[in-house]
Amino acid sequence: MIYLNDELVPKNKALISVFDHGFLYGDGIYETLRAYNGVVFRFDEHLERLFRSAFMISLTIPKTSEEIKQAVYETMKANRQEDAVIRISISRGAGPIGLDPDLCPKPTFVIMSGEFKEYPKQYYQKGIKIAIVNTRRNFKDALNPQIKSLNFLNNILAKIEAKDRGAYEAVMMNYREYVAEGTISNIFFVKDKALCTPAVDVGILDGITRRIIIDAAKEAGIDVKEGRFRKEDLYNAQEVFISNTTMEVMPVGEIDDIKIGTKPGRITKALHSAYKKKVAEYIRQCRLHIK
Ligand code: PDD
Repeated sequence: MIYLNDELVPKNKALISVFDHGFLYGDGIYETLRAYNGVVFRFDEHLERLFRSAFMISLTIPKTSEEIKQAVYETMKANRQEDAVIRISISRGAGPIGLDPDLCPKPTFVIMSGEFKEYPKQYYQKGIKIAIVNTRRNFKDALNPQIKSLNFLNNILAKIEAKDRGAYEAVMMNYREYVAEGTISNIFFVKDKALCTPAVDVGILDGITRRIIIDAAKEAGIDVKEGRFRKEDLYNAQEVFISNTTMEVMPVGEIDDIKIGTKPGRITKALHSAYKKKVAEYIRQCRLHIK
């Protein structure tokens, strides 16, 4: 079942207009969330980011946070899902051809939830291959990567390059040749025992997983450096990993045919365990609250 605007409808009846500006112009925003044991992890943070993305494109979300929460849980329940990946998409809605948002009186609101499928174990055991691609991450004063927008061509072009080179994920540089992020992930590396990751103002999405990892590292007494890094920093790193809501902490074994130290590295493993602990604790707290 799909939640479309105000109701649950069967998948084959979840249809939207060809005049939807999400389709015509990529005019809209989205969030991807993960539920563990029937509890959506860090729901509030994802909703905050959804509302911030909406604000940044002058889109009024036709529901409150509470209404969205209810609708997400209703969708999961209708699909009998406990471990799920949820996508909330909101587009400008249907309207005549033309860029003016005022042409579209009503945003289109969609929730999709699917059973979470584990990534292959070997990805975590051996690390994935990534490629530093030529496609630059969108310049933040043109289309800010902080907007989780439906317009994903920048990332898709990078993904195509990565696939052509036999890599699972791409890493994009920003326009000044500083490491930015992956197509659907943030990037971290370990150098001299410090955990390094591009600062948000390099022009990246401030990943929710990224923030949790930074907190976990600080709690473990690991030095964290958010800054500006070159691709050579990645090539010479002792450990590299990427992060997002569904992958959590995914070790990288190879970048552009250069093998990365021990994989998965000690700090990568420790941070993934710490992340899993935070998930377990969050789920436990939420369940206590429900009871
Ligand atoms: N992508 N950077 C980009 C460009 C992303 O699209 C994502 C998430 C991230 C990581 O953010 P988070 O830790 O909050 O998931 C970083 C989601 C998973 C997606 O596109 O479906």
